[in-house]
Parts: sequence; C-alpha cells; structure tokens
Amino acid sequence: MTQRRTLRMPREYFEDLYVGSPDPWGFVTSDYERQKYDATMVAIGGGHRNALEIGCSIGVFTQRLAANCRQLLAVDIAETALDAARRRCGDLPNVEFRRMQFPDELPDDRFDLVVLSEVGYYWTLPDLDLFLAWLRDALTPDGVFVLVHWTGGTDYPLTGDQVHDHVVTATHDFLHATHKAYNDFYRLDVLAGGDRPADGA
Ligand SMILES: C[S@@+](CC[C@H](N)C(=O)[O-])C[C@H]1O[C@@H](n2cnc3c(N)ncnc32)[C@H](O)[C@@H]1O
Repeated sequence: MTQRRTLRMPREYFEDLYVGSPDPWGFVTSDYERQKYDATMVAIGGGHRNALEIGCSIGVFTQRLAANCRQLLAVDIAETALDAARRRCGDLPNVEFRRMQFPDELPDDRFDLVVLSEVGYYWTLPDLDLFLAWLRDALTPDGVFVLVHWTGGTDYPLTGDQVHDHVVTATHDFLHATHKAYNDFYRLDVLAGGDRPADGA
C-alpha cells in the first residue's frame, strides 16, 4: 500500500513538476481532462460575476471558465505554471492571475463562483478547515462552490473522496448540494449558498 504524505504538499513540489514538463498532467491532450472539463462547465453554468479558480495551473480550464464569468481571478502556488497560464490567456482581459498559496494566503474579495478542481487533496484536513472558514464569508449568498477531484489512488495527504466528504459535512450549515456526479475516475460536487435552489427544486 502507498504511504500517504502527512504534510501539505509544498510549492517546490509543483515548481519541480512544471520545470520537468510544461504540462505535467496532460491538460491540453488528455481525454480524461477534456471530458471532466466539459462536465464541470455544464455544472457551473453561466452568468457569474466574480469567480475564483484555485490551482489554475497552465490555464487550460481557465480559458474555458473565463467565457462564463465577467471577472475571473485565477491563482496558483507555482510561478512557472502561472507564466504559461498568462501566455495562454493573454487575450482574455477579464482574467487576472496571481500567485497565492492557499490557505495561508487568501483573497480579500467576495466571489459568486469558487472552483477547487484537483487541488484539495494536496492539503490536510486542517488546511481544508482554514479554507472553508474563509469560504463561509467569501462566497456570496447566491454563490456556487464547485469541487472536482480524481478518486484514484495517490500518495497525497488526502484522497479525492476524503476532500469531498469533509467539505460536504463541514459546510452543511451554509451550503447545500445542487449537483453531483460520480464516475470511475472523478467526483464532482456543486454546493450553493442559501439563495440558490437545490437540483430539481
Ligand atoms: C492537478 S493541478 C489542477 C489544475 C486545474 N485546477 C485542473 O483541474 O485542471 C493542481 C494545481 O494546483 C496548484 N496548487 C497546489 N497546491 C496549491 C496551493 N496550496 N495553493 C494554490 N495552488 C496550489 C499546483 O501548482 C497545480 O498547478
């Protein structure tokens, strides 16, 4: 059995990955990523005013997300990834890129869409709690929080399912599920603030 890491994965881990390969997860070429992005975009919907993408990497999903948001703040821990993202999205004036290390560094703004895709399992449960304490105030009452994670085996501090289970439980007093998808590869949960109806409502 793979030994799981116990500490949050540091900036150097990601910088090294990007120095070793310009697209370490194959975001541009992978069918898994493309199909997951398609499903995530359908779940997210359009008309968002001020969105936040945490862990934007080289900006492949950012490009798609930007079309559905008036303003988008896209952050990543790795400067090498952000350089590539800025180049990829250079023609998108509604996107701002910023280097931030969540949850030690958190934006002051409020958002009506927050996307955490394939990032939560690099954190620990206390990290997730710090992030969720911030989200409680940072997400507008009509806001949407979108979580997507690979559910396969890794040595990361948390599994995808642990991230989703913990978030759903820890936010039940201020967020409710509006959309869920679970397949052999990933899990997608959309949670919304009090002003948004649940699926089918
Ligand atoms: C697997 S990629 C996910 C990219 C994109 N969100 C997606 O789903 O296609 C994870 C990204 O999260 C970034 N990351 C990891 N830990 C982070 C942290 N604590 N704060 C901000 N970004 C982080 C990494 O540098 C990497 O670019």
